Amino acid sequence: MENKGSFYITTPIYYPSDKLHIGHTYCTVATDAFARYKRLCGYDVMFLTGTDEHGQKIETKAREAGITPKEFVDNIVEGSRGVKDLWKLMNISNDRFIRTTDDYHVAAVQRIFKKMYDNGDIYKGKYVGKYCTPCESFWTETQLVDGKCPDCGREVVDAEEEAYFFRLSKYADRVQDLLENTDFLEPRSRVNEMVNNFIKPGLEDLCVSRTSFTWGIPVDFDPGHVVYVWVDALTNYITALGYENDRYDEYKKYWPGVNIVGKEIVRFHSIIWPAMLMSLGEPLPKKVFGHGWLLLDGGKMSKSKGNVVDPYILAEMFGVDALRFFLLRTFPFGSDGNFSNELLIQTINTDLANDLGNLVSRTTAMVEKYFGGALPEGCGATGMEKKMAAAAAEPSIVVFAAPDAPALEYDMELVALAAGLRNIYEMAMDQYVPHKALEEVFKVIQRANKYIDENAPWALAKDMDANGPRLAHVLYNLLEATRICGILLTPFMPESMDKLFTQIGACEACRTWDSAAVWGSRSETSPVTKGDSLFPRIDLDKALEELDAAQEAARKAGLPDIELEPPVEAPVDFDTFCKSDFRVVKVKACEAVKKSEKLLKFTLDDGTGTDRQILSGIHKWYEPEDLIGKTLVAIVNLPPRKMMGQESNGMLLSAVHTEKGEEKLNLIILDDAIPAGAKLC
Ligand code: MSP
Repeated sequence: MENKGSFYITTPIYYPSDKLHIGHTYCTVATDAFARYKRLCGYDVMFLTGTDEHGQKIETKAREAGITPKEFVDNIVEGSRGVKDLWKLMNISNDRFIRTTDDYHVAAVQRIFKKMYDNGDIYKGKYVGKYCTPCESFWTETQLVDGKCPDCGREVVDAEEEAYFFRLSKYADRVQDLLENTDFLEPRSRVNEMVNNFIKPGLEDLCVSRTSFTWGIPVDFDPGHVVYVWVDALTNYITALGYENDRYDEYKKYWPGVNIVGKEIVRFHSIIWPAMLMSLGEPLPKKVFGHGWLLLDGGKMSKSKGNVVDPYILAEMFGVDALRFFLLRTFPFGSDGNFSNELLIQTINTDLANDLGNLVSRTTAMVEKYFGGALPEGCGATGMEKKMAAAAAEPSIVVFAAPDAPALEYDMELVALAAGLRNIYEMAMDQYVPHKALEEVFKVIQRANKYIDENAPWALAKDMDANGPRLAHVLYNLLEATRICGILLTPFMPESMDKLFTQIGACEACRTWDSAAVWGSRSETSPVTKGDSLFPRIDLDKALEELDAAQEAARKAGLPDIELEPPVEAPVDFDTFCKSDFRVVKVKACEAVKKSEKLLKFTLDDGTGTDRQILSGIHKWYEPEDLIGKTLVAIVNLPPRKMMGQESNGMLLSAVHTEKGEEKLNLIILDDAIPAGAKLC
């Protein structure tokens, strides 16, 4: 096959601050499909992914876990069911994996930083502004939305420090020109957002070093400063090829490449990243494509919301290829899409089990049944079909099928559609719209299924003497249409298509990109075997139930054994604290409140001689009879409160924590020797 040259494609490098979820998987699977597609076409492909391991968030998480930041990221990247395991499971064909803690990257970033300092694009100044810790982003007052981080909507904090700055403002015009007058950034809808929201209001110089934490790449000529994590991260796309390091020597060969990223980081990739490359005098990326988000119930998935979807569970339950396919078939790549388990199962059932699976199983079963597993010689493409196919495969030629017999018309329609498929598919894939490419493949699959019904092979088979040749030709056409679709589905479902090729008897030479445009490539007589069903149908209700159970079990297993309330509440001044009156109380009577599942009603001796009534929502943990006579602690100077129509005068004190996801409560029970009314201080 002709070598079409080199092609370089990347995913974002993900933060190993938590296990990755279906959103990260979506981006990596899409990039993998593009890389596999380009390899199929004959390009020499370099596909890079990796992890972005520095920054304050990871430093904090590691501290909370009581380990070093490196130990923390090692565990998430290399550990069991970590990032690398996930990509292996998902059959990701990356050629390289970069970790920003890799020595060669660290050294290269230091050189890159120094280069920009030496050319005057990085200078020392003072940073005063707002900082969003989770996003690791500094913002100016004007960039905040309702006083909060414009990216994630969370609180920002005041920040002031001596820092290095990158002259981003100097490149504003060139970046604007790049965005507006080239197709550097896609989808085009993202261009206006970048220009109007970030460039037109005035691009300020960017703070590119930090002194407030240490988990980063040190600025080697000014110890105490670490390189801003986004500068460190963005350069990964070139250091991984050997830029400013001698670990690799492929920068010239592969750069510039295509950066696939999620929409929330388009700003970094389409403004800061090209400006940095301009400063370094290096070529700009060929393209930055900003894909949409997978949403859950209309909102973003996030670990802190506890609503992330675990790709391990889905892949193990439904199969890696089915999951890969679903992600790219269902959601238009440039837009947001709502993920749901129902949608996943329905897509598998409709497209894979019904349409593709049935086409393959019906066709192979009929070749076995009527021809003992191999079609006879002479059943292949006719001269007219070859002409039609060649014309259909030629871009820009419109083919009209007008044979006189209906049977021939069916043949011609199927042949033209299948032979022309590669062109449309190629256009879609080259424009990074994989859902369109898949839509076109499935039109052919659906047409082929209709072709079975139109030709009713079972009726033809009733008189093999008269109809045998026609039946063989019909089945040959079905195998050919399936073969072409199989080739074009390979980037999406590599393993299943291998099985499909074996079942339909497609040799190595007729699994290639070139052969996808040549109708009649498959040898007429090669053996066919009806193997196991490629995509078994899934029982929706049963699968949903199993999925819920698996997700709940994983959620529980992933929870820390014991979770405490946030370490410290906001400070309260001493005088205010002293106003709270805590007293020892004795339980004289206790009963459940009618119609309430939670409330217990206590009659208490508080040492004043008058009974005190307190209602407490602790029935889940205590039965009333177990508490009578106990010595407890109550705060007794709270204003009275009505609950279920009854008055409560105070609150009993207890200790609360979470164990394996379940809330636990323990009343503070004191020694019975302590008298009622004793004050706690
Ligand atoms: N470390 C930075 C990227 C640096 S690249 C030089 C980062 N990491 S991340 O772990 O937050 O990953 C962000 C990327 O993961 C998104 O840009 C997107 O590609 C993917 N996704 C994460 N959640 C997603 C969804 N819910 N839906 C789709 N993709 C999502 O940002």
